[in-house]
Amino acid sequence: MVKKIIFSILIFFVSLNANIYESNCVSCHKKLPVTIDKYFYRYLLKYSSESNVKNAMLEYMKSPTKDKTIMPEAFILRFGIKKPSNLSNKQLKEALDIYWNEYKVFGKLK
Ligand code: HEC
Repeated sequence: MVKKIIFSILIFFVSLNANIYESNCVSCHKKLPVTIDKYFYRYLLKYSSESNVKNAMLEYMKSPTKDKTIMPEAFILRFGIKKPSNLSNKQLKEALDIYWNEYKVFGKLK
């Protein structure tokens, strides 16, 4: 009985953490004054296709630099360049898939 309860509590917490995008990206980004969708649309404007957007973001997450940012200079001067992500490639890809599905406009335009 006790084991069962502990097990269900464990499953509960695992499922809370299951969405890597919410637990990693959003939890940090919600402290910033610019909402996370703004970055997304800037990438979409610049890189257009799903694979180009995801690749560019993956590169940026792994090694953010001034040359790669799509944000205006004034923004970077104020907030600085973010730190490289400590997630693995696989985790980053998973997070970017969720990020993409959240904001993609294809199929939403009617
Ligand atoms: C520890 C805090 C933190 C975490 C975690 C984080 N970000 Fe960021 N992110 C920032 C900050 C600060 C900026 C603005 C500075 C910059 O652009 O480098 C930023 C910028 C960005 C940008 C714009 C990049 C550019 O070209 O300047 C994108 C896209 C982005 N984040 C997506 C994500 C995604 C997706 C994740 C999860 C995999 C994530 N972030 C995790 C803090 C974070």
